[in-house]
Amino acid sequence: MLDELVKTLIRESGPISVAQFMQLALYDPKYGYYTTREPFGRGGDFTTAPEISQVFGEMIGLWIADYWVRSGAHKLRLIECGPGRGTLMQDILRATSNVPEMHAKMEVVLVEISPRLIELQQKALAEYKFITWQPDLSAIPADRFNVIIGNEFLDALPIHQMIGDVERRIGLHGDELCFIGKGTIREECPGASLIARECARLILGGGGVCLFIDYGYAETCPPEGTLQAVKSHKYHPLFDNIGEADLTALVDFATLAAEFKAAGLLPSSLLTQGLFLERMQVLARHKRLAERATAAQKAELDSALERLISPTQMGTLFKVFCATHPRGIFPHGFE
Ligand SMILES: C[S@@+](CC[C@H](N)C(=O)[O-])C[C@H]1O[C@@H](n2cnc3c(N)ncnc32)[C@H](O)[C@@H]1O
Repeated sequence: MLDELVKTLIRESGPISVAQFMQLALYDPKYGYYTTREPFGRGGDFTTAPEISQVFGEMIGLWIADYWVRSGAHKLRLIECGPGRGTLMQDILRATSNVPEMHAKMEVVLVEISPRLIELQQKALAEYKFITWQPDLSAIPADRFNVIIGNEFLDALPIHQMIGDVERRIGLHGDELCFIGKGTIREECPGASLIARECARLILGGGGVCLFIDYGYAETCPPEGTLQAVKSHKYHPLFDNIGEADLTALVDFATLAAEFKAAGLLPSSLLTQGLFLERMQVLARHKRLAERATAAQKAELDSALERLISPTQMGTLFKVFCATHPRGIFPHGFE
């Protein structure tokens, strides 16, 4: 369906940018990937860290609680960008339920654009009355201490691909979609820049920190660009079954850090997910869970931990990055 829509658009108005293509494929209000599909988990197209193991969200929860308690802030607004099925927030809230005062002084805002995913999040988190939803960060006032988080959120934002000063476009060769232009590709993600500025507005106004976990590069963009499609846990041709495969682009962490800095925040060093989780004592937590598990459950726990921290799986590929108020306290785990 979306294939025809994209082709008609190109026939009528000419070639489209990669960002327009991503916007349509992922977020078209009728046929877009996030509008229509259930992408997460074994039966879906990809599995994210919170969907692999509860310990991921628990470690993030403890990191948040530690930052808030040590900051001595009065109230807390916890904001999650792109919460998917709500699993990460469930694990965070369960792990922090015994931190004195935190739940009493906290409100949670989930920033989500997919109406279908909002419904799933409302069901998953129905027991928590302090949660509200917003379509973007700009709707949130900068009136209190904020912790803003996002897992695999930035990689879902549309990117532009540039060859020199010319934008790379997608056109038609006969009836087939094709890229127009050859050469070394550079990528720009205006959505991520906007997120950096919005985080800065919220944190400079009320104090706090933001933490993003994603896969990306710390130095230069690979010359062929990083746009990729994944369907049923496998790489998929970009122009096949548009709207039925997930599209992502790697996060450019160096540019992101520069944007946080330009907006007035203090960006952290980049940590691998494996190192971050180990510094949050994930091994001790794993041991405690394993002690109470049956042999079959223990095997599952072991394999999930391996996926999260092993350098050959998500441990090195995924990076953890944060930015604080310039006079804020130092975040745990970072150098
Ligand atoms: C790859 S999923 C990650 C989900 C979840 N964080 C996890 O780790 O399982 C990306 C999420 O970001 C949401 N999203 C994408 N672009 C968005 C935007 N511009 N504003 C708000 N949410 C967005 C998607 O609908 C989805 O919930």
